[in-house]
Amino acid sequence: GSALALVALGSYAQEKQITLGFAQVGAESAWRTANTVSVKQAAKDAGINLKFSDAQQKQENQIKAIRSYIAQKVDVIAFSPVVESGWEPVLTEAKNAHIPVILTDRSIDVKDPSLYVTMIGSDFLEEGRRAGRWLEEHYKNDPGPINIAELQGTVGSAPANDRHSGLMEIIKNDPKFKIIASQSGDFTLAGGKQVMEAFAKTYGKQINVVYAHNDDMALGAIQAMEEAGMKPGKDVNVVSFDATKGGFEAMIAGKINVDVECSPLLGPQLMTAVKDVVAGKQLPKRIVTNETVFPMSVAAQVLPQRKY
Ligand code: AHR
Repeated sequence: GSALALVALGSYAQEKQITLGFAQVGAESAWRTANTVSVKQAAKDAGINLKFSDAQQKQENQIKAIRSYIAQKVDVIAFSPVVESGWEPVLTEAKNAHIPVILTDRSIDVKDPSLYVTMIGSDFLEEGRRAGRWLEEHYKNDPGPINIAELQGTVGSAPANDRHSGLMEIIKNDPKFKIIASQSGDFTLAGGKQVMEAFAKTYGKQINVVYAHNDDMALGAIQAMEEAGMKPGKDVNVVSFDATKGGFEAMIAGKINVDVECSPLLGPQLMTAVKDVVAGKQLPKRIVTNETVFPMSVAAQVLPQRKY
């Protein structure tokens, strides 16, 4: 009897449930909602006790959430940083409390790489380059000028910074491409619509390309363009990111010309990393998501396989 109890106790100690504190950005986009579902489902499947918070796109809320996870002595903290800068103080607190931190989706800008274990997510710079290469190819026989109106994501966020820089890297040597307007729509549909209304008023038919940093803003911009009598997908080429079901539907309707994939389905990889960290395993500093580009021509065929 007591031997059995000891065995049971031993395996209990071995398999003590891991508690993970996850500080999410918010619920700004279809991408984000799919990401939240992925994290919650994967935690359940992995038997991990998840504490989840939504920062409503505010860094101060994320910092508060991380501090509360430190106070609660969770085993691991994971978060998707709203912006790139300003994380040293709170991550130093986590380090001093010996709580490992895993970044998902968005990266940060810190001098001391020991402030986090690994970063799991997309290569946003490469996504921007992919969009730039599509534009180069699409306009290769067009002397230009090609005027681009850019709908940026959240100011200071890694995807907004990198999707802009990636595009610039490709088009900077070709003077026919010009970014004539650039403003943040905060990754939301309403934001994209509002910014596009202003762009349409100021630039109207001069705009050849709308470069939207995500599908939600592209969908908002499409509404604004249609209300202004413009034809998205036809007289304006719409380039977008994420490749959500909504983006695919807009491609099938002929209104988004190309959608650069960015996968939100990071939950399973995150839970594997959490278990590995707790088990004391060494992790690669960067885990990059596999992604591709979907031009409008493949949308109808691919949509049935899309998971988000
Ligand atoms: O960080 C990923 C980005 O954040 C997605 O492209 C966007 O839709 C989301 O809000």
